[in-house]
Amino acid sequence: MDWGLQNRLNRIIKPADNRTVMLAVDHGYFLGPISKLEKPGETVDPLIPYADALMITRGVLRNCISPAEDLPIVLRVSGGSSVVGENLANETLTTSVADAVRVNAAAVAISVFVGSAYEHQTLANLAKLVDESIEVGMPVLGVTAVGKELEKRDARYLGLCCRIVAELGAHFVKTYYCDEFEKVTASCPIPTVIAGGPKLETDLDALNLVHMAIQQGAVGVDMGRNVWQSDYPVPMIRSVRAIVHDGASPTEANDMLQELKHAGETQPA
Ligand code: 5RP
Repeated sequence: MDWGLQNRLNRIIKPADNRTVMLAVDHGYFLGPISKLEKPGETVDPLIPYADALMITRGVLRNCISPAEDLPIVLRVSGGSSVVGENLANETLTTSVADAVRVNAAAVAISVFVGSAYEHQTLANLAKLVDESIEVGMPVLGVTAVGKELEKRDARYLGLCCRIVAELGAHFVKTYYCDEFEKVTASCPIPTVIAGGPKLETDLDALNLVHMAIQQGAVGVDMGRNVWQSDYPVPMIRSVRAIVHDGASPTEANDMLQELKHAGETQPA
């Protein structure tokens, strides 16, 4: 791997432990102003000290995040459909690699919709993006999107998606946790991070999800709603970090969460 590309990837997936806690706030690109992300700058600001990278669109980055922040940016560069439109899978490249370089992105992210009517189009988008990105040493994150069909999230389907993303040249892949997740990571030759998906009933449910994914081969998370839709976003991301980077069990991480909650900690130490 070229020095610049590897260096960018190392800023996201920390070489000290080969792990990452990415914070995803790109949801508005197809969902609009969803709950707790109405003012993304205010949501993100207290979480920045605890995130290894921020997944975001160029519009929110330029308007809501200070360029003084020293946080690797994973720039979402695909989109073009909305939750009220005909088909979420009908995505195109919405941001050029030149603009990703201009905002000093550490990686670019694109969704693929395997098995959808737009499978070929979104996989071709990925291949084109890889060709253009490697020219400038920019890693590509492939996102195995499922649109509204959450029931698609089984190991056979996600294993297929992750493997295709890797075969087309992406440098890391974001997918969902599922039963037999170890089969997904075992057959995927690039690092895997998991999305959290819609907010789970409890914070402990989300911590369990993170722990199971790490135990079964994920290098980390690229999580959004289960962090910033929690009633305690800062304690939550710190507890996620404890699992991902410090090997905490879900119980230990949950104890930490309760302590931070009771200490009234909502701001960085
Ligand atoms: C949408 C995305 C989101 O960033 C992703 O879903 C992560 O956020 P969450 O943990 O809320 O699911 O890539 O395609």
